[in-house]
Amino acid sequence: MALPKWYNEYKDLIEKNIDTYLSRYLALPMSKPLEDFKEVISYGFSWWKKLRSILALEFYLSLTWKHISDIKIDDDIMKVCIALESVHAFSLLHDDLPCMDNDELRRWELTVWKKYGEYNGVLAGDMLNTICFEIISDIKDAKISQSISKLISHSVWFYGMVWGQIEDIYFENNVSELDISLLSDLHAKKTGKLIQASILSGVMLSWEVANIDVYWDFGKKLWLAFQIKDDLLDVEGTPEETGKSVGWEEKGFVYLIWVDATRKILWDVISECHAIAKKLWSEKIDFIVDYVENRKK
Ligand code: IPE
Ligand code: IPE
Ligand code: MG
Ligand code: MG
Repeated sequence: MALPKWYNEYKDLIEKNIDTYLSRYLALPMSKPLEDFKEVISYGFSWWKKLRSILALEFYLSLTWKHISDIKIDDDIMKVCIALESVHAFSLLHDDLPCMDNDELRRWELTVWKKYGEYNGVLAGDMLNTICFEIISDIKDAKISQSISKLISHSVWFYGMVWGQIEDIYFENNVSELDISLLSDLHAKKTGKLIQASILSGVMLSWEVANIDVYWDFGKKLWLAFQIKDDLLDVEGTPEETGKSVGWEEKGFVYLIWVDATRKILWDVISECHAIAKKLWSEKIDFIVDYVENRKK
C-alpha cells in the first residue's frame, strides 16, 4: 500500500530528528568500543514505519490546528515522538533475541543481535528504554512530563508490554489453555497499551482532553485491528513483503478461529475505527485506519 506524501513527510521529520538527538547524546569523545556501539544504536533505531509516533503527532496537530511545518526539533511533541520510537525499538531488539523469539530478520535486515552479537542487542535495548524516559523528563511542563512518563512506563510494565511478553511465552508452550479472550488480553498488554499511550500523549500535549475517553477507545480498537492484521500477515505474508520471519503461529487469532473469521473480526473492528475517525475530523487518522487494515508489512 503506497504511503501518502504527508505520511512520508511526518516520517522523514521524525527520522531526521532522531538522528539529531542521537548525535547530541553521543557527541562526547568516546573509546573505540563505544564508537562501535554508536553504530549499533543507530542501526537499532533506524528501521520502523513509525506508526506510534505518527499517531501521537497527528493527534497533536489535528487538535491544535497546527501544521507539520510548525513543528521544531525541541518542541515537546517531537520529544514524545522520539521517546515512543525509542521504547518501541527497545521492545523489538529484546523480542528478537535468541532467548525470546530467536529471529534473524527484521525490516529486511539482520536483527541487531544477529548483526552485532547478543550483548549488543541487550545493551542497545537497555539504552533505548532508558533514553525514552530521559527525553520525556525534558518536557517543559513538569505535570505533563510526569503524566506522559507514567503513561509510557505503564505501557511497558503495568498491564503492558513486559506482562504481555511473559504471557506470550507461556502460551507458546501451553497453547491448549488459550482462548480468544485470553489472547485479546495478551495483545492488549503486549502491543495495545503503547499504541493507546501514543495517541494519548499527543492528546495530552494538545490540552484538548475533553474527549479523552473517545481517544482511548479509538486506540483500543486500532491496536486490536493492528494485531489481528499482524496475525493474518503471519500466514498470508512473505518474508520478502513483511521484511521479517513469518509463519503459522499457534497462539494467533488465525489458529484459534481460522482465516475467514479472523478477517471478519478485522473488518468489524476497522469499521468501528472508521466511525470514530469520522468524529475526529481527521482524514489522516482515517488513512491510518485504512493502512492498518491493508498494510502488507
Ligand atoms: C511490530 O510493530 C511489532 C508488533 C507489535 C507486532 P510494527 O509493525 O509497528 O513494527 P515496525 O516498527 O514498523 O517495524
Ligand atoms: C513483538 O511481538 C512486539 C513486542 C511487543 C515486543 P511479536 O514477536 O509478536 O512480533 P514480531 O513478529 O516479532 O514483530
Ligand atoms: Mg515475540
Ligand atoms: Mg517477535
